[in-house]
Amino acid sequence: MKNFSGSILIVDDESSILTTLEILFTNEGWAVDLASSVKDGRFLLEKGIYDIIVTDLRLNDGSGQEILEYAKALNKRAEVIVLTAYGTVKSAVDAMRLGAFDYMIKPIDSDKLLFTALKAIERKNLVTEVKTLKKEFLKKYDFHNIMGQSPRLLEALDIVNRIAETDVSALIEGENGTGKDLVARAIHNKSPRASGPFVAINCSGINENLLESELFGHVKGSFTGAIANRVGLFEEADGGTLFLDEVGSMPLSVQAKLLRVLQDKSIQRLGSNKVLKINTRLISASNRRLTDLVKSGEFREDLYYRLRVVEISLPSLRERAGDVLLLCNSFLEKFSMTMKKDIKGFSRDALNSLLRYPWPGNVRELENCVESAVALCRAGVIEIDDLPKSIINTEETLTNIVMHHPMTLEDLEKKYILETLKSTNWNQKKTAGILAIGRNTLWRKIKTYNIQLPALSSEISSV
Ligand SMILES: Nc1ncnc2c1ncn2[C@@H]1O[C@H](COP(=O)(O)OP(=O)(O)O)[C@@H](O)[C@H]1O
Ligand SMILES: [Mg+2]
Repeated sequence: MKNFSGSILIVDDESSILTTLEILFTNEGWAVDLASSVKDGRFLLEKGIYDIIVTDLRLNDGSGQEILEYAKALNKRAEVIVLTAYGTVKSAVDAMRLGAFDYMIKPIDSDKLLFTALKAIERKNLVTEVKTLKKEFLKKYDFHNIMGQSPRLLEALDIVNRIAETDVSALIEGENGTGKDLVARAIHNKSPRASGPFVAINCSGINENLLESELFGHVKGSFTGAIANRVGLFEEADGGTLFLDEVGSMPLSVQAKLLRVLQDKSIQRLGSNKVLKINTRLISASNRRLTDLVKSGEFREDLYYRLRVVEISLPSLRERAGDVLLLCNSFLEKFSMTMKKDIKGFSRDALNSLLRYPWPGNVRELENCVESAVALCRAGVIEIDDLPKSIINTEETLTNIVMHHPMTLEDLEKKYILETLKSTNWNQKKTAGILAIGRNTLWRKIKTYNIQLPALSSEISSV
């Protein structure tokens, strides 16, 4: 019995070498396939699974580098050993740069080649083992960092669970700070691509040329300023996941290119006519509703359907106010631990403020708020004056408004009603009293202005 053996593809245009190597490896228990040209080699690569590829560099119909590149493009995990005549050592070194495991100079020393092949297979097994372990680890600890028990959030996480194993494109929609990043990473970590790369790009605030070369890469000299070749993020995310954040901000010209890439499942670096196959799962996120952007002509409808094979809509914190307490407590625990402070909890007043605040910045704002409170806290309990002023008191003086935030009368009315509601702890009877309007009128205005009431307000307002 041989301890180490695997499957091997040997590509060489000298039939005597093919025969020698075939006998050598078969005797050692390897499964051997032979190819005498780049064309045959590519054909076998497409169907076969190999641990090791041994390829001559100079072949009748091309170069062994093409075999190497093709194996990488197909995302084969095979280790490649290149054979070279002594005159072409430089190309062998280039091949190493492209990811070959090793090179050997002809005439081939069989023992050395066997030994190198065994080393290569050992490395390949090790890499696979590490990846499997990492995957197991990530599977176990999948959702521990996404907190919340409200039905809307659980519904979203259920979709995450159901699609993680697949390769479908997912679109995550939600306001800023609702956890879109977190969910995108969770999908990746639960997917079979977990051991591959997770590459994120924020599409807002980047001009179209830069965004394009970020995504697809470029070759040296393809435009002024392209001083070197650049690998695009699609290539970087090969075998893994590409996360397009704020995809709604993507300029229309880049949208057109992206659509083509998704249809062809291949990319071309800017300025290059070489077509590279891609194997990347796409997850997109947007804080604006893409259907609105489609209506206003800012987003291509055909691309929208490609990105939104499955849609995950993350609720704002107002829509899951029941989770606020849970989040406050877990962030308190987390930050007390990292700042090494012994803080037991929140005072009644502080907690009331936290529960009543509508959290326009969602979980991110809440997290930052608790972090700063923990930092400022002097005693063993977070007091109301440890909280940011903006949470306790959101009023602005009139002068301030006129000077810095000029607004329409309607906006001012909305704001004024909102502030009065907050100042009365969302008591609608009191608010109507202060504003000297009937409760029905107040209710109508709340509806018209789409003022969001925190969940607690229904109990409070009936008091
Ligand atoms: N459900 C959640 N549980 C715990 N932390 C969360 C949750 N949602 C968001 N966060 C935290 O809030 C912050 C903002 O989340 P992020 O995913 O960046 O939001 P978005 O991408 O939607 O703006 C991050 O620090 C994240 O860890
Ligand atoms: Mg984000």
